[in-house]
Amino acid sequence: MKAVTPRFPHLLHGGDYNPEQWLSYPDVLAKDIELMKKAHVNCVSLGIFAWSHLEPEEGVYDFSWLETIIAKLYENGIYTILATPSGARPRWMAQKYPEVLRVANNGVRNAYGDRHNHCLTSPIYRDKVKQINTRLAQHFAGNPAVILWHISNEYSGACYCPLCRKAFTQWVKQKYGTLENLNHAWWADFWSHTYTSWDQVEPPLANGDSTLHGLNLDWKRFTTDQTVDFMREEIRAVKQVNPTLPVTANLMGFFDGLDYFRFGDDLDVVSWDNYPCWHQGDNVAIAAQAAASHDLMRSIKRAPWLQMESTPSMTNWQDVSKLKRPGMHELSSLQAVAHGAQSVQYFQWRKSRGSFEKLHGAVVDHNGEGNTRVFHDVEKTGEWLQQLDAKIYPTRIQPRVALIYDWENRWAVEDAKGPRNSGLHYLETVLAHHRALWEKGIATDLIDMTKSLDRYKLVVAPMNYLYRKGYAEALRQFVENGGTLVGTYWSGIVDDTDLCCLGGMPGQGMMEVFGIWNEETDALYEGETNTLVPETGSGLPQKAYEVRELCALVHAQGAQVLAAYGSDFYQGTPALTVHPYGKGQAYYVAARTGLDFLRDFYEKLRLELALPRALQAELPAGVIATRRQGDEHDFVFLQNYGDSEQVVQLPAGMTDAVTGEPVDKVQLPAYGISVLQTAGSGLAAWEE
Ligand code: GLA
Ligand code: ZN
Repeated sequence: MKAVTPRFPHLLHGGDYNPEQWLSYPDVLAKDIELMKKAHVNCVSLGIFAWSHLEPEEGVYDFSWLETIIAKLYENGIYTILATPSGARPRWMAQKYPEVLRVANNGVRNAYGDRHNHCLTSPIYRDKVKQINTRLAQHFAGNPAVILWHISNEYSGACYCPLCRKAFTQWVKQKYGTLENLNHAWWADFWSHTYTSWDQVEPPLANGDSTLHGLNLDWKRFTTDQTVDFMREEIRAVKQVNPTLPVTANLMGFFDGLDYFRFGDDLDVVSWDNYPCWHQGDNVAIAAQAAASHDLMRSIKRAPWLQMESTPSMTNWQDVSKLKRPGMHELSSLQAVAHGAQSVQYFQWRKSRGSFEKLHGAVVDHNGEGNTRVFHDVEKTGEWLQQLDAKIYPTRIQPRVALIYDWENRWAVEDAKGPRNSGLHYLETVLAHHRALWEKGIATDLIDMTKSLDRYKLVVAPMNYLYRKGYAEALRQFVENGGTLVGTYWSGIVDDTDLCCLGGMPGQGMMEVFGIWNEETDALYEGETNTLVPETGSGLPQKAYEVRELCALVHAQGAQVLAAYGSDFYQGTPALTVHPYGKGQAYYVAARTGLDFLRDFYEKLRLELALPRALQAELPAGVIATRRQGDEHDFVFLQNYGDSEQVVQLPAGMTDAVTGEPVDKVQLPAYGISVLQTAGSGLAAWEE
């Protein structure tokens, strides 16, 4: 098992710390260290957004304050994750070199302000970043206190300046080679948008061309490429000094703007910032979404990961910044660990006194003491991590189920006109399938269409509107070799340049795999429903399940019909099919169902395929089991997201991971947690 932070291979507890805001308050550092020790903090992130203190004037570097702070923390057993400061540039830089500022999609350059407001193409910005990163590395990369690079902060956004436009044109030219290819791929003859020279290629602009779906999709791909390229240069600068100090970049879960799967190869460790809106309605639904985000982030490298930020209480940017109720902080923090995180880190350690985030939750509030409710919750979380550290650290999660979530597909689905401009709900659909599996304790990877499928028994592929190159072939091979595939309506509609598949859908040979032809797709108005009625012998309960929004009209061409539509002109036609193909089988769910169907359907598949569950026990509603696997021991996290106490009867052979006592049943109060130890299931050799 590779440690994510080899210099300090432990569960990390701490968070973003900005002592540069407090340099004129001489007592703050000592107080912070005292409180950090009390809260079992062993690691902080320093230097995020600290550029104006690191290089107060162009070419004048001052790292002395940082060095002193890193040393004092280290003397007290607190390690440092060191950031590169590129997330926000100093004022002097923008004043002297306006090209570093971003241009918006109306073509107007932004004034200085905010953060992430810089052009990722600008050679000047890239050079300034390279210089400061190199110097930081020369100064700190050999320091035993520094365990990880935190590259920039939450990369996001796009720039439409002349430099970026030129880079985009180059990118397009490189991809398509000839204008003929370009015009075909983007179907540019439509409305006479035909390109007759390369310099006509422009990004989709607010007041310009936004109707070519191929262009819109390629612009998003380019934005990811440009961001990855910028990040790669940042990483190169620090790795040139010390290639062994690992790097991470803090990502944002299902954030729409970047294809995070493209970041995996350059990062040693994936980390992400987790801010669910707890207590906004049903906490089980919120926990389900957080679980999916954790699984997605883990799946980028299919390896242990870090929760780099979370709030110990509330945020200040959500519509309503509600406090975490007592118990929720521990519950949500351990959820990350249950899904494979090797850390619980916060934004932020100490509340800033002024400016934009002065009212954002922090471990230390403006009262400056460790006597708050929030501080005690953080202390308790720290205790959990200390107690679990040695046992949990060497374990990981190796699902046998993959759920396909693909950013390119998402961009294309959401950009298309029709069949429901009022909402196709791709992300919600992925989350619903994930939730049905998560509730059963079936571990799931969320991977995109480029990842290998070899290790899985079941691949769930909802709304695969766009087939990326090679993907249909990978699915076909997966099924041929014995895998079970679940596909749905609105799949195999377009190829990877967003051109519709010809010759029948789902395209690219997938009609043969599913044994069906999707001739038409009906879109339903809000509130309209149809039903999916299982046939006897389908393995599903005999009840009519409500379907809504999208109904594919399909012909069985070799597939067995397991359920039919209950009404409308397509009453009696297939709504659920299965088709044996090679050594495997492919299910096709023709309509958008509710969770009730997904729960029953995945129960059928769980039994059919003997899918492993985190716990062989019946779980009361709201209680979720998640398992981390090890060679010698596995650990099962039982968490109650519901509002009432629940009792879970356990199978034989389990002990409490903290006390070591044997247990046969656990009583979980609302928001209660129990971590149980059981025999190890062994780890497959799946290192990537
Ligand atoms: C993000 C940023 C932090 C901070 C938090 C507030 O995750 O990375 O700097 O702004 O949000 O929730
Ligand atoms: Zn730019």
